[in-house]
Amino acid sequence: MIIDRSNAMKSAQEIREVVADRYAKIAVTGSSCCGDASQSVALGYSSSDLEQVPESADMSLGCGAPVGYAELAAGERVLDLGSGGGLDAFLAARVVGDTGHVIGVDMTPQMIELARANAAAVSANNVEFRQGLIEQIPAADASIDVLLSNCVINLSPDKDAVFAEAFRVLAPGGRLIVSDMVTSDEVARSIDPEGWAACIDGAIPEASYVGGLQRAGFVDIDVLERTTGDDVYSVTLRAVKAAD
Ligand SMILES: C[S@@+](CC[C@H](N)C(=O)[O-])C[C@H]1O[C@@H](n2cnc3c(N)ncnc32)[C@H](O)[C@@H]1O
Repeated sequence: MIIDRSNAMKSAQEIREVVADRYAKIAVTGSSCCGDASQSVALGYSSSDLEQVPESADMSLGCGAPVGYAELAAGERVLDLGSGGGLDAFLAARVVGDTGHVIGVDMTPQMIELARANAAAVSANNVEFRQGLIEQIPAADASIDVLLSNCVINLSPDKDAVFAEAFRVLAPGGRLIVSDMVTSDEVARSIDPEGWAACIDGAIPEASYVGGLQRAGFVDIDVLERTTGDDVYSVTLRAVKAAD
């Protein structure tokens, strides 16, 4: 199915439906779009960390290991955009401890159900999962110290809305650590929702990604890690909301 770019509103809705459908199936079957669970070690997660989280939280759906770059501290308030089975949320919860709090946000009801079941299985009481869009984050203004996201923003048909919402919910001085797929340059292509849902067709040029973060108000934007060799590749970025 190729979507007509001239009908942008319909396209955005249709893309969301195809993306949600894909991740609903993954949540229910436990199978990954991107490989098996051992890929998480290759992405930068340590085996010992992976042993500490519920098994079905690690679905090998990420394209980096942002939590390792987040320098989390006890007591911090963390929100994971597109939390899937909850891998990064559970790892963050271990570091922020009882005085901290972690919120995972995902639009796919089956992913939320899976993540909540995972939380119940390990009695994680400093983690909660909220169903919602990352373009309309279900969290209050300036209520979060650290935003994480792993291989999700590329899936959004409205990345500027995601960046604006990320900026809104972060407290002054807060930071965003995101791993995502980007492209080396502007690639002319039709929008195929299946390709979009597979983390390929929704990827935008790295420079546009950084530009979007800057337009939203973020400063001190650093690329912490970059895979190379392909037109579509992964980056891990850090961006800051300046303190008042
Ligand atoms: C590639 S998976 C990554 C999951 C998780 N971050 C991980 O690393 O395991 C993408 C997730 O983002 C969710 N998602 C995609 N687009 C979204 C949107 N616009 N708003 C909220 N969640 C979204 C999907 O339901 C899915 O769970």
